[in-house]
Amino acid sequence: MYGDCIFKEYYTMVRQIFIGPMIHTDENEELIIKESSAIFIEDGKIIDVMENPKTDQQKIDDFHADKINNLSFGQFMIPGFIDCHTHAVQFPNLGLGYDKYLLDWLETYTYPLEKKYIDIKFAKQVFEAVVKRTIESGTTTACYFASLYTEASGILVEQAAELGQRAFIGKINMNAPRNDGYYESTENSIKDTMAFIESIERTGNPLVKPIITPRFALSCNMELMQELAKIAKEKNLHIQSHISENEDEIKTVKQVFKEQLSYTAVYEAAGLLTSKTILAHGVHLEDSELALLEKRGTAIIHCPSSNTYLQSGLCDVRRLKANNIKVGLGTDVSGGASYSMLDEMRSVLHVSNCLSLTKRDYVPFNYKEAFHMATLGGAKALSIEDKVGNLVPGKEFDTLIIDLNTKSSLLDNFKDYTLEEKLQRFIYSGDDRNIVSVYVKGRKVK
Ligand code: GUN
Ligand code: ZN
Repeated sequence: MYGDCIFKEYYTMVRQIFIGPMIHTDENEELIIKESSAIFIEDGKIIDVMENPKTDQQKIDDFHADKINNLSFGQFMIPGFIDCHTHAVQFPNLGLGYDKYLLDWLETYTYPLEKKYIDIKFAKQVFEAVVKRTIESGTTTACYFASLYTEASGILVEQAAELGQRAFIGKINMNAPRNDGYYESTENSIKDTMAFIESIERTGNPLVKPIITPRFALSCNMELMQELAKIAKEKNLHIQSHISENEDEIKTVKQVFKEQLSYTAVYEAAGLLTSKTILAHGVHLEDSELALLEKRGTAIIHCPSSNTYLQSGLCDVRRLKANNIKVGLGTDVSGGASYSMLDEMRSVLHVSNCLSLTKRDYVPFNYKEAFHMATLGGAKALSIEDKVGNLVPGKEFDTLIIDLNTKSSLLDNFKDYTLEEKLQRFIYSGDDRNIVSVYVKGRKVK
């Protein structure tokens, strides 16, 4: 059982140098482009970044690296993608069931699939593919809704640890009674959540963390949400849930929690709004809710692909940001039909362009802002920007090596492109075939 094994670090290369071009974003959401750089890494951590390494060979020699990785001509480095919201159990439904709105979609397609994870063999088969596929498409950090079932959730922990992905993994909490039995008692929900957290803690793996996961306000009563908030506080854990995704959902939340003035007020009353809370969607939030989220430092995870497929709405992310709300990006599989963060960035741009067609003076996002949202923006939403999000000294080396010239690439290079143009082409038109290597904390995982 994964809880009983001690996490073993796999770093065969204690000191490494990566030499080649790199692009990332900074605090101001600006692109930083280095045509030629050397990144010095020790135990998975970036300890120095030097520009124009050809001018100081001595510094490279003095580092006594176990391995020097010289990027091939045309390749460049970018930070790994951070998928702040996805459902591992829903991968078998990718590409299915987009003919219903959220609440019917959950009943018709999603809950019946999720009940199957009582079968551990099925869980193993799916979760192995989930972690492998997401790593291959460049997701170095993933925030997963795992399963209602503790044992199945543990399988996802095992897979992330084994394959080397950085992950927040939540056992889903749902105690609202349902006719099909797909829920748990309050007592079991709390007991199993504690057991799940402790089993992850026992692994000692610094990359895989538990996250408190009340599914949404319609799946949990106030007592359970309050108990979960207490656990998060005692153990200083992240919290994830859904908020204000669909208009019928919001109406129902207000009917169920009559004493609360808004959806956000329900989570506030439960004590779930913290600076380590991330809430997916936030499409229809009222001004007063934005103020409350800002006050608590709670982040919204933008899931544009899911929001359009399930016809939940077009989220005005400019408005969230204007209210100082941190925004990360999530694929929300299988509300979203792709686990690729490249696809999700394109959805950011599509939704934002659509909004600009209907709203006067709305400035749509550009690809650089989408790139920021998929990297440093996500890290900030998760409050892990001290560890990942861009390639600066002090952070861990979570990096993708991009190549638009691979044999399998769908992109032809009929002319020379600048480094910035290469990034732009990758974001608009590339795919996982252009991601030749993936590193998490210095360990090569693709
Ligand atoms: N709200 C509650 N559960 C879910 C889910 O699984 N997916 C989405 N998109 N919204 C939800
Ligand atoms: Zn979701």
